[in-house]
Amino acid sequence: MVKSSKLKSVYDKSTVEDQRRIYREWAETYDNDTLQDFGWMGFQPAAEEFEKRVADKNAVILDAGCGTGLSGKALFELGYTEIHGRDLSPEMLVKARETNVYQSLAEIDLTQSINEDRDYHAIFSCGVFGFGPPFAEHIRHLTALLKPDGYAVITVNGKGWIEKGWENELTRVVRTHDLNLEEVLDIKYIENENIDGKLLIFKGK
Ligand SMILES: C[S@@+](CC[C@H](N)C(=O)[O-])C[C@H]1O[C@@H](n2cnc3c(N)ncnc32)[C@H](O)[C@@H]1O
Repeated sequence: MVKSSKLKSVYDKSTVEDQRRIYREWAETYDNDTLQDFGWMGFQPAAEEFEKRVADKNAVILDAGCGTGLSGKALFELGYTEIHGRDLSPEMLVKARETNVYQSLAEIDLTQSINEDRDYHAIFSCGVFGFGPPFAEHIRHLTALLKPDGYAVITVNGKGWIEKGWENELTRVVRTHDLNLEEVLDIKYIENENIDGKLLIFKGK
């Protein structure tokens, strides 16, 4: 049972336009609501696992669904210097810019194929996948941007994992699109709501 009506409304929404509207309205108070009230912290264990795999602190990193920049800040605090933030919501990107941890920021929609003028050494995506959109099906848009031997470290909301049948769907997506899924780890995610997370580790090809 999700206590917060805000979180419930985010999880219940089912179109990209709904997501865009929710985050437009939430940008101003997102950090306070998620950090203080919900105990959002999934970006922390995700960043720690990322660091175990991405040794080069100058690696060119895509923070996909960077939001206000909590995920980028977690990487920056570990010493990463080349972080590029992308998000659906222009209002969240305005907040991300204020963090000063990103080398570039731009809008993207992960449900569509992504046009970037470079490949990435590593991809980090926190708090974006679970209920969707975007769905498991869209992970291939991210892994397509990875250099060979690069890593994509992607969280999945543990409540969404169960309710949306991620285990089977992920198996199907990995098989259909020949993705290189190396590991699925359990992580702490939204502490005050007792929601755990999954961490997916993909390797490029
Ligand atoms: C829960 S926030 C996570 C933000 C940040 N990564 C963090 O760790 O706090 C989810 C973010 O995903 C973005 N998002 C939702 N749907 C998206 C899509 N289809 N494409 C790109 N970003 C999307 C939202 O705008 C929002 O900023």
